[in-house]
Amino acid sequence: MKKRFLGVAVGAIAGFSILAACGEKTDVTVKDAGEVNVYSSRHYDTDLALYDDFTEKTGIKINRLESGADALIERIQNEGEYSPADVLVTVDAGRLWRAEEAGILSSVDSEVLRERLPEYLRHEDGLWFGLSKRARIIIYNKAAGKPDVLNNYADLAAPELKGKVCVRSSSNIYNISLMASLVATEGAEKAETWAKGVVDNFARKPQGNDTAQIKAVAVGECEVSIVNTYYLARYLASPEAADNELFNSIGIIFPDQGGNGTHVNISGAGVLKHAPNRENAIKFIEYLTEESAQQYFANGNNEYPAVETVEASSAVEAMGDFEESQLNVAELGINQTEAVKVFDRAGWQ
Ligand SMILES: [Fe+2]
Repeated sequence: MKKRFLGVAVGAIAGFSILAACGEKTDVTVKDAGEVNVYSSRHYDTDLALYDDFTEKTGIKINRLESGADALIERIQNEGEYSPADVLVTVDAGRLWRAEEAGILSSVDSEVLRERLPEYLRHEDGLWFGLSKRARIIIYNKAAGKPDVLNNYADLAAPELKGKVCVRSSSNIYNISLMASLVATEGAEKAETWAKGVVDNFARKPQGNDTAQIKAVAVGECEVSIVNTYYLARYLASPEAADNELFNSIGIIFPDQGGNGTHVNISGAGVLKHAPNRENAIKFIEYLTEESAQQYFANGNNEYPAVETVEASSAVEAMGDFEESQLNVAELGINQTEAVKVFDRAGWQ
């Protein structure tokens, strides 16, 4: 079997020679600590900096393979017991659940991870761990003003918003996970009534990604939409003035304040069942929960750190404080099948 990896150990090798040149003691066991194979659907420069830092600190070389989440899961399944994959890194608890269902993850019992990560952001048997958070929020066109009726997800179904709501397709995992959270908290019947109301309010057929919804709201093609926070923060963090202007043209509503709290989802990681370097894999995930690593990992995609004591980036903070739902994100996977059925019944394409 051909295994192709993109090595990122260059920094680590340089790190060792610097240490040696300074006359400091080089720990041979660290140098021989081995490697860890990371399959990731994330592709941010800050993740690469983190991988280098991990190698410098531990001597463990990281081999990474990047692809879409579903493709990685399928690949790991096909590789079976000969899979070189140690860690799967991906976004959305709904996808981690798919990996869980595919039977490719392995339970990890780590005191470090149990202590650092809130219970609702990790799998109860340690099959996966949430490392950063994103919220799925409501946006509106500031020039048109905030619709009086609109504060919560439920309000997206209000008759006052007829012809004003843009959304992306119901096959998208972010919408499936949002619906799964509603199924978990409100039940399938109520969720379906809500979905039908939202469909009645569509400004157009569901289309485009989250960025397309933001642009449509910015130009007034529709008044309101639902998007993940990091897509908005990206416009504020951008060095381009036009992007910052676009950010300023969008109003933000954190839904369900005082109620269930705004729906949050995770970027996360799990150790694979046939991991050839299991100990290193656990060390790597534990490393990602250290304070500086948390900042880098979250900032890579303008997300919120999963460890509560770590602050988000200034662009992310600028969107404001909010109460988040503390529903265990595992529920997003457990209710995924029902969520898809609810969308179908409601006619949300
Ligand atoms: Fe995304």
